[in-house]
Amino acid sequence: MLKIAIDGPAGSGKSTVSKIIAKKLNINYLDTGAMYRMCTLKVLNEKIDLDDEKKITDVIDKIDIKMENNVFYLDNNDVSELIRDENISKNVSKVAAIKFVREKMVDIQREIATKADVIMDGRDIGTHVLKESKNKFYLNASIEVRAERRYEELINKGANVIKENIIEDIAKRDKFDSERENSPLIKADDAIEIDTSGLNIEEVVDLIISKIGEKND
Ligand code: DC
Repeated sequence: MLKIAIDGPAGSGKSTVSKIIAKKLNINYLDTGAMYRMCTLKVLNEKIDLDDEKKITDVIDKIDIKMENNVFYLDNNDVSELIRDENISKNVSKVAAIKFVREKMVDIQREIATKADVIMDGRDIGTHVLKESKNKFYLNASIEVRAERRYEELINKGANVIKENIIEDIAKRDKFDSERENSPLIKADDAIEIDTSGLNIEEVVDLIISKIGEKND
């Protein structure tokens, strides 16, 4: 089965290109970041202190999440928009660093990968979730380019945001994601690294597809 792993920091273009590649190859796409965002929404909804690992573990143990065609359901409610909120982006790294949360999400991700061909994006896909994949990519771009993309995305949605705050938030999140103990954000040794700073979406998509070729796992 074809399993494509796409990792990289926030705003590197992972989800945009993964969605297009999934369509072109007619395979499933799984946005694993959205799963950690749903966990964070649940924890914030329950008003649990983000330092209370025990309570977070209890709640995430029973969490009811579903993913269907890139629509995300928490307790049967469509939360696809809500999980993109700035408040979730600010807090998600902390929840995603908890060992139990990661183990539970990784189990679900691996289960999904056993059922059908998939392209998955995240931070630990090539190093951990789909370690055996032969198709691993690590997308990167300068922080300025990544913040600009996120800024445009939020402005287009009508959000009232300041660019400097976005640069700061992204830098903080990258640092936290890269320095955490459990499956930190790191390029897998066998991943192809692509700097997307000077490339448009089509160019990144074509580059990845050309590297996948006929290689199946
Ligand atoms: O891709 P994203 O920005 O939606 O991801 C949100 C957060 O979730 C990110 O800051 C780190 C975490 N994450 C993770 O730890 N592992 C993944 N496979 C995907 C996301």
